[in-house]
Amino acid sequence: MNGSVRAACVIGWPVKHSRSPLIHEFWIKRYGLAAAYRSEEVRPEEFADFIATLAERGYVGANVTLPHKEAALALSEPDDRARLVGAANTLWLADGHLYSTNTDVEGFVDNLDASVPGWDAHPDEAVVLGAGGAARAIVCGLVERGFSCIHVVNRTLGRAEALRARFGHCVQPAHWSAAHHLLSRACLLVNATSLGMTGQPKLDLDITPLHQDTVVADIVYVPLVTPLIAAARARGMPTADGLGMLLYQAVRGFSLWFEVRPDVTPELRATVEADLARST
Ligand code: ATR
Repeated sequence: MNGSVRAACVIGWPVKHSRSPLIHEFWIKRYGLAAAYRSEEVRPEEFADFIATLAERGYVGANVTLPHKEAALALSEPDDRARLVGAANTLWLADGHLYSTNTDVEGFVDNLDASVPGWDAHPDEAVVLGAGGAARAIVCGLVERGFSCIHVVNRTLGRAEALRARFGHCVQPAHWSAAHHLLSRACLLVNATSLGMTGQPKLDLDITPLHQDTVVADIVYVPLVTPLIAAARARGMPTADGLGMLLYQAVRGFSLWFEVRPDVTPELRATVEADLARST
């Protein structure tokens, strides 16, 4: 490995599906850096050894994707966000320490800031569909932005209750049967489930109770325009899509590893959209 080239990687099992190399390689070229970004397919039982030897492998840091995000948290020095979310997706080496954060939190809020400026001007009630890892990052972002009541709607109520234990009484666990009623009070609706993704069951939710100015966001980006986002746009409602969240969550890792804060531009978005169109 060329010692003058700073390198980072995405670690997953499997890792083929990751769009991170495309995003980071776009920025490396855009900013003319002597840097590299690779994919590393690492089995769960080999993960601890892999990240313990990141520096020897020539890496200054890494993204971490499924199924390693909880292990990454346990094996690093996490910041408050990673600790609160209970998962780390970005690692970096500094002064002999391995630090971590969870950039899905800022991916979510930064995408909303860019797509719907002022979305959090009156942070009252929000409805989050889902209570998995993505929902934890989203709830973390909403708590940071001061939302007073976050209804977490989930098939398995116990997982929504776990979010209340984690984030406090601003989280209100709810069954799907309550969703219709809750929508009429929400200023923000977020789909944080895999429902509506190509190959997954559809998201069966009638959004007619939503106010016209309710913001609708989706973490799903395959398809690019999910049925939920399409329905909201058809009613003229403000939206933020899953691809935006993916792009914004990548910014911090690149800044930490390569010391350039990259921009999320229409050109980057078009590059990833073209790749998604080719492979889906
Ligand atoms: P991630 O870490 O990407 O959020 P996850 O932890 O597997 O993934 O969470 C997926 C979310 O989508 C969960 O909220 C899940 O609901 P359960 O907690 O009840 O499993 C939700 N989900 C996935 N498939 C679903 C389905 N067919 N119907 C309802 N909810 C579903």
